[in-house]
Amino acid sequence: MTDETGPKRLRARAGKALAGRIGVPGDKSISHRALMLGALAIGRTTIVEMLEGEDVLNTAHAMQALGARVERTGDGTWSVDGLGVGGLAQPDEILDFGNAGTGARLALGLLAGNSISATLTGDASLRKRPMGRVIAPLEQMGARFLARGGGLLPLTITGSDAPLPIEYRLPVPSAQVKSAILLAGLSSPGTTTVIEPEPTRDHTERMLRHFRATVTVEDTRNGRVVSLKGQPELKAAKIRVPGDPSSAAFPIVAALIVPDSDITILNVGLNSLRTGLIATLREMGGDIEMLNARDEGGEPVADLRVRASELKGVRVPAERAPTMIDEYPVLAMAASCAAGRTEMHGLAELRVKESDRLAAIATGLAACGARVEAGTDSLAVTGTGRAPAGGGTIATALDHRIAMSFLVLGLATKKPVAVDDARPIDTSFPDFAGSMGRLGADIAPA
Ligand code: S3P
Repeated sequence: MTDETGPKRLRARAGKALAGRIGVPGDKSISHRALMLGALAIGRTTIVEMLEGEDVLNTAHAMQALGARVERTGDGTWSVDGLGVGGLAQPDEILDFGNAGTGARLALGLLAGNSISATLTGDASLRKRPMGRVIAPLEQMGARFLARGGGLLPLTITGSDAPLPIEYRLPVPSAQVKSAILLAGLSSPGTTTVIEPEPTRDHTERMLRHFRATVTVEDTRNGRVVSLKGQPELKAAKIRVPGDPSSAAFPIVAALIVPDSDITILNVGLNSLRTGLIATLREMGGDIEMLNARDEGGEPVADLRVRASELKGVRVPAERAPTMIDEYPVLAMAASCAAGRTEMHGLAELRVKESDRLAAIATGLAACGARVEAGTDSLAVTGTGRAPAGGGTIATALDHRIAMSFLVLGLATKKPVAVDDARPIDTSFPDFAGSMGRLGADIAPA
């Protein structure tokens, strides 16, 4: 999965203030979706500034194995010649999604609408993550599964070229589950409806429209109702992928907690279903300014100027969790540098991410001398207004965001912070250490 030649252990230590301008890699969620919808569209889809991280490269490879022609035509520029809805070919190899829950779960939705069989697997982290949440609705639609342990990878799926249209209320707030159902619904003869009690990222809905499918969204008393009209002809499109706000989160927090920093991050996607971290950091007193706000390919984008700030603890309500679900690890780092107690609620989903993030944050912060309490689905971090002591080596448990979060913390602590395995960072933020280094951060092999 990861680059065996890259440095395994990295450490971060405090140095000068961070300054300068950087971009961050393309949005992971949007990059996966662009490749998959490109594979189902008629014609050639061009994807510009695509994330070339391992998670997305695995999806590119899978689309190729399913018969689409996927080509890298330049730095971050890819083309996909699609096969039409229901046109995927039987793969003659096992599809390996590496570390990517999004890649695997969305692909299951895609496959459910094609009358072919495929076997999917992933790395040691992905093989522990629940697939039952997508198997249940896709079975209702007519797909068949043979899965290890009832709902784990490796698994084999057999899809149907005319899945039943269903109406499905999400039992957990998950954009991946919503997206899997919508992707299967593309092959369905009727209207597929997903009801979300709490809205989750809507990149699939936006991109389906960009490819000329008919998607309606209605906010009701029962939640957000998303409906897709089945069997559209998807028309190939051009997609410019904005910078990933979940990757921008790391330099944002670094600049807030390293004294006297002043940085600008260019071209960050600011879809309102992804901006919970920015709202929270601002409530904590973080100086984050949006500049040059614009719209690119159906997604809002801006540059962010971030200056070092004195942060204070806040209560982060459970309802906000879907808009910042991947950002709690780095928010916890900011909280450990803030004055007072930060409480985060509604975190059950953190237990089933690339690692048990609630446990990884709590163990790592405690090892760095911070005051932290973890509940079953909550976390409280109490800071003094100064960074905790640091020191120690953090176990990253194949989790890119745990690795990057603790390296960010190490830029502000008295003693350096090391991570035992930095290689998973390449799944979402290739050249993380280099990008941070351009801002003046001291991150190096340990
Ligand atoms: C994603 C949805 C979220 C998020 C993941 C990307 C997506 O997962 O954690 O990193 O692209 O749809 P869930 O849908 O499981 O919450």
